[in-house]
Amino acid sequence: MNPQPSPQPRALGVVRFYSFLPQAEGFSEEVLAGLALPRKSIPPKYFYDEQGCRLFEAICELPEYYLTRTEMAILRGNIAEIAQFVGPEAQLIEFGSGVQAKTRILIQALQTQLYVPIDIAIDTLRASSSELARRFPFLNIVGICADHTRPIALPEFVGVPIRRKTIFFPGSTIGNFTPAEALVFLRQARKMAGAGGVLLIGVDLKKDKATLDAAYADSKGVTEQFNLNLLHRINRELAADFQVKRFRHKAFYDPILGRVEMHLESQYSQFVHVAGRRFDFAPGETIHTEISCKYSIAEFQELGKRAGFTPEKVWTDPEQLFSVHGMVAS
Ligand code: TRP
Repeated sequence: MNPQPSPQPRALGVVRFYSFLPQAEGFSEEVLAGLALPRKSIPPKYFYDEQGCRLFEAICELPEYYLTRTEMAILRGNIAEIAQFVGPEAQLIEFGSGVQAKTRILIQALQTQLYVPIDIAIDTLRASSSELARRFPFLNIVGICADHTRPIALPEFVGVPIRRKTIFFPGSTIGNFTPAEALVFLRQARKMAGAGGVLLIGVDLKKDKATLDAAYADSKGVTEQFNLNLLHRINRELAADFQVKRFRHKAFYDPILGRVEMHLESQYSQFVHVAGRRFDFAPGETIHTEISCKYSIAEFQELGKRAGFTPEKVWTDPEQLFSVHGMVAS
């Protein structure tokens, strides 16, 4: 007897991962080059090892770090309008996807079928994507492990209806570029989105210095641990001998440049070895680890226009702390 034909199985989402990450040499080369500069600096993407990801999650929960919860509230409070703006059957591409908590709000509302998270932290990318796949069985996920500060060519996808590409870049991560770098990045995003594609981007607004200083130097010292973890990571991975206790976290808002600067400040005259090379520090000398640029709504719209987008929507919170821009690639 023939077995009964089983009912047509429900199409389950597929989760795939691609890695475009350069090998570990990138890290040692960039650290050695950065420490050899007259003003020492290390690119912020190296914050995000396993411990760094954990610490950044903790920063997002801090009372002083208003950015994450404010952006979440803006997304939640305006989700119907955002969904209408993006439209149906959008392919969602996210840069620096992290734990994907904000993405859930969007996927739920948009019923997204194709989601492409891009992140440098492979373990976070895998864990978060698998969790998302469990939550949304209709979702196909193509995780890309890559450094979004460099151009990325995405594979094309078939089998999922797509009307529009939507690039989601939350967290004010755009602020970690200088305005000139941000313009280059946005032009690449414009190309990736294609004519008519959407950019949904979270941008922290300019505000009083006290609020910004506190957001980047919290009272519990979590941000300090996050910044100092970079030195621990260099010790672990690059055969270095930083005495981490001899450095301190320094962060301040510069209202003229409109940006927060994060540094690791040497407390003493000292030297360290990294991969067999010696680097000297004067007391008070710093390693510049990150900037976080703040924009007024008009300033960011202007930047978007220069990159080839038409600014169409801005959503903010009642206190005007944070903004989410909706732009269309022209
Ligand atoms: N993208 C985050 C921001 O600009 C990164 C960040 C938050 C950060 N706090 C930090 C980076 C402290 C270094 C140190 O807000």
